[in-house]
Amino acid sequence: MKMGKNKKVKVLFVCLGNICRSPMAEGVFRQLLAEHDLSHRVQVDSAGTAGYHAGERPDRRAQQATRRRGVDISRQRSRQVRRGDCAEYDYILAMDEWNLRDLQRFCPPEHRHKIRLFLDYAPHLGVSEVPDPYYGGDRGFEHVLDLIEEASQGLLQTIRRDLDVDGGY
Ligand code: 4NP
Repeated sequence: MKMGKNKKVKVLFVCLGNICRSPMAEGVFRQLLAEHDLSHRVQVDSAGTAGYHAGERPDRRAQQATRRRGVDISRQRSRQVRRGDCAEYDYILAMDEWNLRDLQRFCPPEHRHKIRLFLDYAPHLGVSEVPDPYYGGDRGFEHVLDLIEEASQGLLQTIRRDLDVDGGY
């Protein structure tokens, strides 16, 4: 996908509740964009396939784990995926196979090509899903962040290519 000079690339991270995995991905990827001076070229958001935590801050464990890596996600608020997201976003990235199937059902066929598993951008890991840490301990959140950091690097390379920024491959 090649982008016009002034068009922003739009990325939406999606999990189930939008209080653990996708808010962490949003925060980590936004920080990476800032480090690469690309914040003005890429818009990032996150959402949940379910709406039962709508309006809430990220899970306290998710906030703490990301803060330990220098990323503040405390100002994010959970929201459910909206039909309009399917048309608006260029990359709609699911954390697990369940999210992927829900999104494929939810979005009209002409937008389904934008929906992928986030870990497709870290094929060297040999895992396809970011596991749900909600019912586990703090260690689960650290593992989730490890996976998110790896896939964020791969996604950044892909988007640099879209934007024709040097260093994309
Ligand atoms: P997330 O985690 O999808 O990574 O935000 C979950 C959050 C809440 C629930 C499940 C998963 N829940 O069942 O309330």
